[in-house]
Amino acid sequence: MKNFTSPSDKLLTLGLVGLGLAHELNSPLTASGLGLELLADQLRSADPPDPVAAAAAVDRVLGRVRRMAALVDRFRRFARGEGGRPAPASPDAIVDEVHELVRPALAETSSIRLLRGERLPDARIVVDRILLEQAVAIAVLNSADAIGDNAGSITLHVAEYVEGWIRLDVDDDGPGFDSISDSVELGYSTKGDEGMGVGLALATRIVESAGGSLEALNRDEGGARIRICLPLAEG
Ligand SMILES: Nc1ncnc2c1ncn2[C@@H]1O[C@H](COP(=O)(O)OP(=O)(O)OP(=O)(O)O)[C@@H](O)[C@H]1O
Ligand SMILES: [Mg+2]
Repeated sequence: MKNFTSPSDKLLTLGLVGLGLAHELNSPLTASGLGLELLADQLRSADPPDPVAAAAAVDRVLGRVRRMAALVDRFRRFARGEGGRPAPASPDAIVDEVHELVRPALAETSSIRLLRGERLPDARIVVDRILLEQAVAIAVLNSADAIGDNAGSITLHVAEYVEGWIRLDVDDDGPGFDSISDSVELGYSTKGDEGMGVGLALATRIVESAGGSLEALNRDEGGARIRICLPLAEG
């Protein structure tokens, strides 16, 4: 099992977290800018919103700003060497956490259901929990993008893969990958200005640095799957 103790590993981890920071800041930053632009236009118009409605719009932006501050704070803690060490963790708990974290964002687009599938309660893996959560969240948010405004579901599974390994699947019933091999490459995106093409490349590096593998595939039933395989903790 790889750990993050050598200086080059630490730099690699910092690079991953930095890339993750840019990736996660991208959408709340864009949304905040657009929200403020809209509000400024409304306030300057002939029929400005009343103060209560304007304050509610400011609150929505503030919520995003607080989230961005929390993300930057997490990066600073990593840079100072707090956290960022692999430790035994329950893959079920990690997946449950992602479920909780991502559900509010998906609730805005109520046509997408985020479901918990198979579980493996006693399993333990040795990972940097925050990084692995980020990798799973990347897959879930990609699935949500792929389903878009249609109705659809995303299901998170944890199960035994082969002896000594677990698989963590993020399944969706969207259109599936256009090009699987391109999609995991850094810089490849089909989302125009909205996408950086960083998500899956970053998730792959995160999983590989924990001694595992990440695979993108199209399911026989239709839809996409991101399969993360990780070794079980020894002993
Ligand atoms: N669940 C999915 N279903 C279909 N296509 C997908 C799915 N997940 C990813 N893709 C494809 O893979 C591409 C790369 O995904 P990736 O997360 O790396 O970048 P992105 O989502 O385009 O941008 P960002 O860097 O903001 O995440 C996507 O643009 C999309 O074409
Ligand atoms: Mg993405």
